[in-house]
Amino acid sequence: MRSWLCCAALLAASSTQALAQTGSGAEPSGDADRRAAATEAAMTNAERVAMLNGILAMPLGDTKIPEGAPLGAGYIPGVPRLAVPALTETDASLGVSYLGGLRGDGATALPSGMAMGSTWSPELMRAGGALIASEAHAKGFNVLLAGGINLVRDPRGGRVFEYLGEDPLHSGLLGGAAVAGIQSRNVISTIKHFALNPTEIGRQFHNGILEEGALRMSDLLAFEIAIEQGQPGSVMCAYNKVNGAQACGNDRLLNGILKKDWGYKGWVMSDWGSVRATDFALAGLDQQSGSQLDAAVHFGAPLLDAANSDRKYRTRVADMSRRILRSIYAVGVDRNPPQKAAIDVAAGATVAQDIAEKGIVLLQNRDGILPLAASAKKILVVGGYADAGVLSGAGSSQTQGQGGPAVSLPTMKDGLFTALMAQNYHRSSPLDAIRARAPQADVSFRDGRYPAEAALAAKHADLVIVFGTQWLTEGLDAPDLSLPQGQDEVIAAVAKANPKTVVVLETGGPVAMPWQRDVAAIVEAWYPGARGGEAIAAVLFGDVNPSGRLPVTFPASVAQLPRPDLPGAETVEPSFAGHGKPGQTLDIDYNVEGADVGYRWFARKAEKPLYPFGFGLSYTSFDRSGLSVAGGAAPAATFTLRNSGARDGADIGQVYLVETPRGKTRRLVAFARADLKPGEARTVEVPIDPRLLADWTPKGWNIAPGTYRFALGASAEDLLEEVGVQIAGKTWNYTR
Ligand code: BGC
Repeated sequence: MRSWLCCAALLAASSTQALAQTGSGAEPSGDADRRAAATEAAMTNAERVAMLNGILAMPLGDTKIPEGAPLGAGYIPGVPRLAVPALTETDASLGVSYLGGLRGDGATALPSGMAMGSTWSPELMRAGGALIASEAHAKGFNVLLAGGINLVRDPRGGRVFEYLGEDPLHSGLLGGAAVAGIQSRNVISTIKHFALNPTEIGRQFHNGILEEGALRMSDLLAFEIAIEQGQPGSVMCAYNKVNGAQACGNDRLLNGILKKDWGYKGWVMSDWGSVRATDFALAGLDQQSGSQLDAAVHFGAPLLDAANSDRKYRTRVADMSRRILRSIYAVGVDRNPPQKAAIDVAAGATVAQDIAEKGIVLLQNRDGILPLAASAKKILVVGGYADAGVLSGAGSSQTQGQGGPAVSLPTMKDGLFTALMAQNYHRSSPLDAIRARAPQADVSFRDGRYPAEAALAAKHADLVIVFGTQWLTEGLDAPDLSLPQGQDEVIAAVAKANPKTVVVLETGGPVAMPWQRDVAAIVEAWYPGARGGEAIAAVLFGDVNPSGRLPVTFPASVAQLPRPDLPGAETVEPSFAGHGKPGQTLDIDYNVEGADVGYRWFARKAEKPLYPFGFGLSYTSFDRSGLSVAGGAAPAATFTLRNSGARDGADIGQVYLVETPRGKTRRLVAFARADLKPGEARTVEVPIDPRLLADWTPKGWNIAPGTYRFALGASAEDLLEEVGVQIAGKTWNYTR
């Protein structure tokens, strides 16, 4: 069987065909421009400036939250006489956030960014985005602070679980699809945190240093692609500094690259509490968010005074408000305002489970121990609060279902942020789901507090399923890649007692697995969301054939990382807010790896990771063949994927550029996910974005003329025969 697949990846990979994914009430961008200009022209300076600062919409000190405004991340008043709606903002990419229960309601918790990234599926990202936006809409919100796509430069980063991966094409296409899905429900999406924000330590002051060419080819390229694909109404700038200037006051990033080079037409909102001065407006910031968290409402009275007396501020204030209005009209927020309604919990759970099932990655499966045989009589489940639920990451993105978490463990007392930093488990118990799937078996549970107790029980079981969790939170990085609180010892003890040990990981990102060789199987379930327990059981018992592929490299140890010692670990006091001591600084030199993030760094250093980017096993097998690359004006890769095993399954074909006239390299240039029946083959053609063949030079993107070599792979490390193609040189830049 052979068929041509004109897949979404094909559409999605086209950088030139930006998809205007807007909802029913949305309008063509030209009309949005005209309406925004007309409304803005009718406004007074006071009305304009009122749109340019928002509060954190939570009861905080003397904050007055307008009647009817939902408690959430932000509120910006509208202009009723001109029918401009107020902006009501909620976090985040994984669902409508829980705020430590403050609002008293729940929402669908999607699996983490790593889980979503492991699906390699723009379609699923779009579906997830549409779902969480419809819930935001039903809770009274018209802005979702979603779209987290910072590249994972360090697996210890506290927000790795919110992000999608380490590759700019992969994160850009998936992130853009999520934004498009959100905006299809007339809810504005952000994309964040612009830019170079891979680590939480000292997040208000650390200074990411990276030469501009490398930045354009890595972190910025992810944003550029996602913006083209999803056309987010807003971009959120980051807390940190980039090359010496605060990201939210960074003229080069905001005015130079985002607005001038890329022609971005939406607005730049600050991260909450990241505005230092009114002149950030001149650097390209359009709106101050959560202004109670800053020292002053810089975009309030001082900006109004400046606009009334200084022409350059007057011009900026007009542009700032026009940009916000344009996004309101382009996304159709005004014509389909949020309407409070009950959310469809069952529909949400279905989407969350589908993403979880396709995002779980099977890392090891010795002697085909998985899927589990129905014949196991005595199954022992250990650890991870698997009797109660599945882990989630903490911070502003924390989402919980109705009734709140099944288990909530306090962590660090940090004033206002204490509730945001609880270690919360969703009400979806893997133990219950395993019992439901194996009604004939005797399934017992040990909590894993004592390695000896778990090992003793393991001796008497036919099979052990041991859960390993790594909790991550916004605001704090992990110090290393271990499973905390002695869990590595528990797994080792259990595996020693019973070789039929299956490890299920619920981790925020990569971990080191010192027990890897001693266990039979390893399943990376990430933070699997609202129906994670059911998704895990479905994979363990083979109702679902695992198809996730790693969106990040798992290092064998921190010694392999560009910065083995976590920058700032010795000098920066852990805190959620991350302000540090007055005047404290922390430079982080990303020039070490430059654009070679993740698997590219490993390829450059010829280091062997624990598991490579793109890796994932299946209960069936695949043949990958027939790579050909067209190198002309519209470069594209064509290849064939075939299910050579006996079960239905999905493969993700990955094409890497491995050599250019400049030398060896490793870059993902195309990918496609294909569901295949046993024996079925599919030939896929995927466009290659020319920027992936190019380097950024002082003159712009540059493709050196000569031979380019590509390889189809099962991962970034497992590559088939190389194919060489002649490609003509070219240089291009942004001309606007
Ligand atoms: C986070 C943002 C979030 C904002 C509003 C900040 O602490 O960095 O991602 O959108 O809070 O809650």
